[in-house]
Amino acid sequence: MRALVLNGPNLNLLGLREPDIYGRETYDDLVALCQRAGAAAGFELVDVRQSNHEGDLIDWIQEAYGTFDGIVINPAAYTHTSVGLLDACKAVSLPVVEVHISAVEEREDFRQVSYVRAACFATITGEGLAGYAHALELLADRLQRRGA
Ligand code: DQA
Repeated sequence: MRALVLNGPNLNLLGLREPDIYGRETYDDLVALCQRAGAAAGFELVDVRQSNHEGDLIDWIQEAYGTFDGIVINPAAYTHTSVGLLDACKAVSLPVVEVHISAVEEREDFRQVSYVRAACFATITGEGLAGYAHALELLADRLQRRGA
């Protein structure tokens, strides 16, 4: 099993960025956590990427077809704006888990919309970086039940 973990804009600034909301751990900590948690969940490969550019994220989702068995995505601000990310996820029809570090449902009104959610079989919010480990476990479960 191979998982692609995608991170949208400003998540490279974890640790520096609004630590009251996103915590003090860095993006490198997040990559290490995903790799540890992914291995524990049974993934042979967990590729963790981040971009501030919507098109990069769309390209990576497209390229995942035939290369990865599933995707964990934190689209960050693009969650609330991007039909393109939704369409890309639908196009490849891989299993996708949406993850947010913060409890988006308790924040501003503009964070209450998620376009990508319609293409995801699960959404995790408000668990901090541990939410990515949770997402990888859900993805592994789903793939194992399907016999991937
Ligand atoms: C976020 C929540 C988004 O609303 C925000 O734009 C982010 C991070 C989260 O992980 O909690 O950049 O996706």
